[in-house]
Amino acid sequence: MPKIIVATTKQRLTAEAASWIDLALFDGALAIDATVGNGYDTQFLAHKVGSKGKVLGFDVQKAALAGARELLKFVGSLDRVSLIHDSHARLDDYLPAQAEINGAMFNLGYLPRGNRQIITKAETTVAALRLVLEHLAQHGRVTLLVYRGHPGGAEEYAAVRTFLEQLPDNLWHPEELIGAADSPSAPRLFRIRRK
Ligand SMILES: C[S@@+](CC[C@H](N)C(=O)[O-])C[C@H]1O[C@@H](n2cnc3c(N)ncnc32)[C@H](O)[C@@H]1O
Repeated sequence: MPKIIVATTKQRLTAEAASWIDLALFDGALAIDATVGNGYDTQFLAHKVGSKGKVLGFDVQKAALAGARELLKFVGSLDRVSLIHDSHARLDDYLPAQAEINGAMFNLGYLPRGNRQIITKAETTVAALRLVLEHLAQHGRVTLLVYRGHPGGAEEYAAVRTFLEQLPDNLWHPEELIGAADSPSAPRLFRIRRK
């Protein structure tokens, strides 16, 4: 059974996710934002893949996608982003045949300042993660920022961790980052790299 390397950081976990995924992205890369929300991660990914790259962004909330669209239009990156109103668990329906993903970000839980009843769920999150890994390019990278303080959050964290523990360790390098102010309800960041 592969070990998940566990480490602590003084950086914010959002900043850790961005700086680490950055290393897998380049001009022309394909990136996935599994949870668009307000579009901040989508904006970051769109900037990193450049004008020749592509970002597929998923969210189940139409209003969130509309807001993200405005943000992307404002910063001039909408041309390389497809905003998809569907669950990330149906990623395969939207991915071009033979496509290889270079980087994917999951920012789980509910939308800050949004409807707290609309949350990512363990089963669909793991289904989407499985699909992303199936299509991940060599040296591709995936981040999952997992929130544990809301109902269902701890179960989702446990499901993701269990899934990562079962990956063959000759192919995958999973890590878990713990923030400075850790507690049972604090978020954790998973980082997965294809060897
Ligand atoms: C924490 S927020 C994402 C924040 C976002 N990354 C940002 O930069 O603003 C989580 C988002 O996941 C979305 N979501 C929930 N279930 C989903 C699913 N099955 N597929 C795609 N998105 C989902 C929610 O609607 C919410 O907008």
